[in-house]
Amino acid sequence: MPVPKIAVIYYSSTGNVYHLALGVAEGVEKAGAQVRLRRVPELAPDTAIDTNPAWRAHLDATADIPLATHDDLRWADAYAFGTPTRFGNISAQLKQFLDTTAGLWAAGELSDKPATGFTSAINRHGGNEATLLALYNTMYHWGALVVAPGYTHPAFSAAGGNPYGTAHPSGNGHPTEEAMEAARRQGERLARITARLVATPDAAVS
Ligand SMILES: Cc1cc2nc3c(=O)[nH]c(=O)nc-3n(C[C@H](O)[C@H](O)[C@H](O)COP(=O)(O)O)c2cc1C
Repeated sequence: MPVPKIAVIYYSSTGNVYHLALGVAEGVEKAGAQVRLRRVPELAPDTAIDTNPAWRAHLDATADIPLATHDDLRWADAYAFGTPTRFGNISAQLKQFLDTTAGLWAAGELSDKPATGFTSAINRHGGNEATLLALYNTMYHWGALVVAPGYTHPAFSAAGGNPYGTAHPSGNGHPTEEAMEAARRQGERLARITARLVATPDAAVS
């Protein structure tokens, strides 16, 4: 049986989405898939980053995580994308990376692959769902197969019941154990569904 290959690609300025990305990656591995954990490049100038010590500290602490490349997108059978909520939308940093993929998209390298998303806003109702739906717009254009958590495991309800993807309201700090468990289960679900597709490549949609 081929081992599914999954790229977990995220942006995080102060660590919340980073922690969720670790959880998703852990779930992917637990389900027997291979994972590449990648961050997208920071775009903000140092003058902005240095206004927030948590932002600077997180950027420095995660400098050794490889940056996402097109090779990661080609390599992967499936994707998990994470982004903080930015005014109810995805972050410019992740969007910039997605906006470099037109060539891959035109070559058909991004289609027929499962994809899922996760996010963090400071507020429970601060735009988490809008952010995930905005992220999925790109996935639809790619011809990806959106794998949302739905309510397929009690962990998703326990983490707040967002059926579009794990979402952590960060007002009280970094992800709770409930949010981390939802992230792990989301990674597991993505890996399990991807395993079915890579086992029967001829069944890919066209
Ligand atoms: C420019 C900007 C816009 C933001 N917009 C929202 C928002 O629309 N709703 C919200 O609840 N939080 C918003 N936040 C807060 C972040 O989404 C929140 O702190 C998130 O947990 C950060 O994730 P990170 O630690 O992975 O960077 C915003 C923060 C910034 C800097």
